[in-house]
Amino acid sequence: MGVDLVGTISDLRILVGRRRSAGPVGFVPTMGALHAGHASLITRARRDCATVVVSVFVNPIQFDRPEDLERYPRSLNADVALCGTLGADIVFAPSVDEMYPVPLECAVSVGRLADHLCGRSRPGHFSSVATVVLKLLQIVQPGAAYFGEKDAQQLAIVRRLVSDFNLPVTIVGVPTVREPDGLALSSRNQRLDTAERQLAPALYRALRQVKNALAAGIVDAAELKRRGAAEVPADARLKLDYLEIVDPDNFQPVERVLGPVVAAGALFVGATRLIDNVRCSPGEP
Ligand code: PAJ
Repeated sequence: MGVDLVGTISDLRILVGRRRSAGPVGFVPTMGALHAGHASLITRARRDCATVVVSVFVNPIQFDRPEDLERYPRSLNADVALCGTLGADIVFAPSVDEMYPVPLECAVSVGRLADHLCGRSRPGHFSSVATVVLKLLQIVQPGAAYFGEKDAQQLAIVRRLVSDFNLPVTIVGVPTVREPDGLALSSRNQRLDTAERQLAPALYRALRQVKNALAAGIVDAAELKRRGAAEVPADARLKLDYLEIVDPDNFQPVERVLGPVVAAGALFVGATRLIDNVRCSPGEP
């Protein structure tokens, strides 16, 4: 059976409703331009669930830079074809009007989990992400929803959204899929020109350097960050937006690393902003 493409909330609810008695519904929210990172989420959902729903919605309210929204890659036909190949059952691709028929009066506010990293660089971003994720979870009403560890702060915020609001869904985190040179797959990688693409793995190298220095016994966060940042070559096209070492539960920066942490970074490569993170612990290779 092929994949069904639906654009309205009412059609989606009818299709999912018909399948609910067959077993658990798995949901993979995306903004499209699907790649092997998204594919690993869909494959995992396929393994776990009777029905797999993928949403493709470029959520305008979570973009802080209008040019970023405008340049965001869109490829719905190819996305639907990939979802079919991976065995997904339903692609939900609503219009902006369908999701936001009137401007919202209510939104999710995110506390200190959004204070640092991308929350600091992109004010309001995580409130808008949490708001659209809440809407999507209410529309699809899945038993499980799949999110990538690549967006570690987003994943932590979604987990809190679900526990704070008692949403009846299990959140499953899926490991980051990378290119052979370490670059985390991202829809934004398509925007890199050849020279930028060669520079882009510097972000992962910086995070690996933090992990290696921590394994070698350095626990001072400032020193770890200095060593990581030194991996980013001096090049006019590269600008480190942030490199931070944070507690994995509350995403607050730590000064000395005494347990598991997340080393997270954002790097501008030309006009494209890439993010990545690596989990690490003192002494762990
Ligand atoms: P998007 O960037 O399309 O990502 C959709 C999901 O794919 C997210 O959970 C993200 O973490 C995961 N993902 C992206 N690249 C990955 C990789 N290389 N390896 C593993 N997983 C990866 O994140 C969003 O969309 C939006 O903010 C959304 C949650 C859909 C709300 O609008």
